[in-house]
Amino acid sequence: MTDPTLAIQIEGLSKTYKTGFWLAPKVTQALKNLSLDVREKEAFGLLGLNGAGKTTTIKIMLGFLSPTSGAVKILNGRISDQNIRQQIGYLSELPYFSRQHTGRELLEYFGSLHNFSGKDLRYKVDEVLELVRMTKAANEKVSGYSKGMLQRIGIGQALIGNPKLLICDEPMSGLDPVGYKEMRDIFIDLKKRGTTLFLNTHIMDEVERVCDRIGILHGGELKKVALVSNILRSSVEVDYWVDVDPQDAPKFIGMPFQATVAEKGGFHIRGNELPETLATLNQKNIKTKGIRALSSVMEAYFLKTIGAQAMVPGRG
Ligand SMILES: Nc1ncnc2c1ncn2[C@@H]1O[C@H](COP(=O)(O)OP(=O)(O)OP(=O)(O)O)[C@@H](O)[C@H]1O
Ligand SMILES: [Mg+2]
Repeated sequence: MTDPTLAIQIEGLSKTYKTGFWLAPKVTQALKNLSLDVREKEAFGLLGLNGAGKTTTIKIMLGFLSPTSGAVKILNGRISDQNIRQQIGYLSELPYFSRQHTGRELLEYFGSLHNFSGKDLRYKVDEVLELVRMTKAANEKVSGYSKGMLQRIGIGQALIGNPKLLICDEPMSGLDPVGYKEMRDIFIDLKKRGTTLFLNTHIMDEVERVCDRIGILHGGELKKVALVSNILRSSVEVDYWVDVDPQDAPKFIGMPFQATVAEKGGFHIRGNELPETLATLNQKNIKTKGIRALSSVMEAYFLKTIGAQAMVPGRG
């Protein structure tokens, strides 16, 4: 069905990888009957653990892989159509660029592939460099770029053809907090310009700030699709870590976390048990030194959806 308000329509997508050889064949069902729509101008995040099937989904969307069954419609056409491909920008999981060129030269090259030349090309390259915060480093060689700069030039390359739809596979992975924030701001700018975004990620903070909607992929199955605003407003249980004075351990006798308090000076508690536990500590005259959430609401929602528990720092 054609619906101009949809940028991506995925229907009943399955992918089985067959590897190994005849004596020891190995079959991996990477995607199981995945159906999903992404609206125009929407920022959609596909979340999943390693091996969930995120990259497989993107590769099928882009036509790099053919599905075992199912179909994808992208910008209301087929990815095999050159006209459709021209309107899509893509940042791969591990982008590779020739390192002896400058960032500007790379973007000029990719711009020329999109039929820009002369003044138009220079104008476009400057605009994209500005957008990806690479104007200053534009004339430096790629070989000297940090991981964050490489990712930003990667986004620049994906943006040079004015894509309607930008698809990024793990755009934040491996970035330091500064690189991470810059990347997030770039996405927020792109959203304002009306670019449809499709991101694969396992970084929850990114999702909260950038995406309108998310899908949770687990073991090749789409477990949930939800609006980020609804998730943030929902009453998902977040776990907490309560810091106390280890000297107070004897006062914890009869409480389940006495050993952890003695060993680590604090304990892990579920959100619904927090008020009552704090009241008990108060009664026993035990002072808390700090309380921190062990995960964001988004992370808790993700973990709950895939049926896993939050990692507790320092706990074996
Ligand atoms: N070319 C391939 N041949 C065989 N199996 C593959 C191939 N590519 C992916 N797989 C398998 O398919 C499943 C999904 O992989 P995929 O790369 O799509 O996951 P992902 O969600 O992108 O993971 P990551 O977060 O690690 O990038 C995994 O079990 C993976 O081992
Ligand atoms: Mg991947």
